[in-house]
Amino acid sequence: MSAFRWGIFGTGTISAKFVAGLVATAQTEVSFVASRSAARAQRFAARMRVPRAIEGYANAAQEGGVDAIYIATPPALHVEHALTCIHAGIPVLVEKPLATTIDDATRLIDGARDNAVFAMEAMWTRFLPAVRLLRDYLDGHCVGEVRMLAASLGVAKTVRAENTSFNPVLGGGAISQLGVYPLSLGQYLFGPATLMHALGNVGETQVDEDVAFHLRYQQNVLATCYVSIRSWAPSEFRVLGTTGEVCLRGPLIRPSGITLSRRSVEQLDERDYGWRMRLRQRGWLNWLAQRLGRTALKTSATTIGRFYAGNGYHYQAEEVRRCLQQGSLESSCMPLSDSLEIVQLSEQIRHQLRTV
Ligand SMILES: NC(=O)c1ccc[n+]([C@@H]2O[C@H](COP(=O)([O-])OP(=O)(O)OC[C@H]3O[C@@H](n4cnc5c(N)ncnc54)[C@H](OP(=O)(O)O)[C@@H]3O)[C@@H](O)[C@H]2O)c1
Repeated sequence: MSAFRWGIFGTGTISAKFVAGLVATAQTEVSFVASRSAARAQRFAARMRVPRAIEGYANAAQEGGVDAIYIATPPALHVEHALTCIHAGIPVLVEKPLATTIDDATRLIDGARDNAVFAMEAMWTRFLPAVRLLRDYLDGHCVGEVRMLAASLGVAKTVRAENTSFNPVLGGGAISQLGVYPLSLGQYLFGPATLMHALGNVGETQVDEDVAFHLRYQQNVLATCYVSIRSWAPSEFRVLGTTGEVCLRGPLIRPSGITLSRRSVEQLDERDYGWRMRLRQRGWLNWLAQRLGRTALKTSATTIGRFYAGNGYHYQAEEVRRCLQQGSLESSCMPLSDSLEIVQLSEQIRHQLRTV
C-alpha cells in the first residue's frame, strides 16, 4: 500500500501539531507545506522535516501531487483556501470552524459537492476514542434520561490585535476559537440544537471574548455553556441525567476517557423524620463531613480510560483516508451539514452579541 500524501496550508502552531500527530499513523507522509512567504514555508519545512516548501497557496494547489490538503489558516480564509484546492480537484480537511459566515460555509460546501471533491471540517475531538466511548455509554442510557449538559472552556490570552483570536476580520473570538468545541460535541451526541439565549463581553478589538449561551436539543436536553479567550475556565463537558452524571475525563478538547457517577433517583418523602435524616443533621457529623470534603449525596464514580495515541490529531486524518479509500465524498461522523449547522449557531450567537 502506498503512503497517503498530505499537503499543509499554513505555518502556524496548529499546522505543526497536525504534522507532529501524523507520526502516530502508518503509511502517511507530508509532501509539502505552503505559506504566503517562501522563508516561512522553508523554516516550517526544516523544523517539521517536510520535504518541500512552497510559496503561495494557489501555487501549491496547482502543483498538487498529494492525496489531500490540510487547511490550517485563519478561519475567515478557510473558504478561499479550500475552494482553491477543491477547484484543483484536491480533497480538503479544513480546520475548525469550517467558515465564519453562513454564506462562506455554503459556498465551500456547494463547491465541494458541485465538483465532487471530498471536504471535511477538522473537528478532531469528534474522532477521539473517548468521545466515541461517551456516545456508546449514552446510547446505553448510562445516566438514565439525559436532561442537561454543561460545558466550559476558557484560556486567558493577552489581547493582541495582530493575533487571530482577537482579529474580527480573520475570524477571531471566543465562539470561533473555543465555542465550536462544545457546540460540535453537543451536536454529535444529541443532534441539532436551537439557540435559546447568549450573552457576552465584546472586547476592544470587537471580538466576543467571554460568551455564555443556552441551547435546547430536540429531545429537550438543555445545554448551558461558557467559553472565554480572556479568562481561565475548566475544560469540562458533563452530561446530566436522572440516574447520574457522565463527564469527559480530562480536557474537553482532548479527553482520555469518561467518568461515570451514578446516583439513585431520590425518593422524596416530606415526612422523613427517620433516624438517618436526624443523624445527618447532627452538628458533629457535619463538622466531620466538611473537614473530609464529603457531600451528603451518595455517589460511586467510575473512570473508564480510553486513551488516544500520539497527540490525538491523527484520528481525523485517518478518517479522511478511510473516506477517500471508500470513495465517500463526506464523512458520516463529521458531515458538512453538521459543520454548516455549527456555523449557523455561531452566527446566531454573535448576532445576539451584536458582533455581526
Ligand atoms: N485543532 C486545534 O486544536 C485548533 C486549535 C486552535 C485553532 N485551531 C484552528 O486552526 C487554524 C489555524 O490556527 P493557528 O492558531 O495556527 O492560526 P494562525 O497562527 O492565526 O494562522 C495560521 C497560518 O495561516 C497563514 N495565513 C494565511 N493568510 C493569513 C493572513 N491573512 N493572516 C494571518 N495568517 C495567515 C499563516 O501562515 P503563513 O504566514 O505562512 O502564510 C499562519 O501561520 C484556525 O482555523 C483555528 O481556528 C485549531
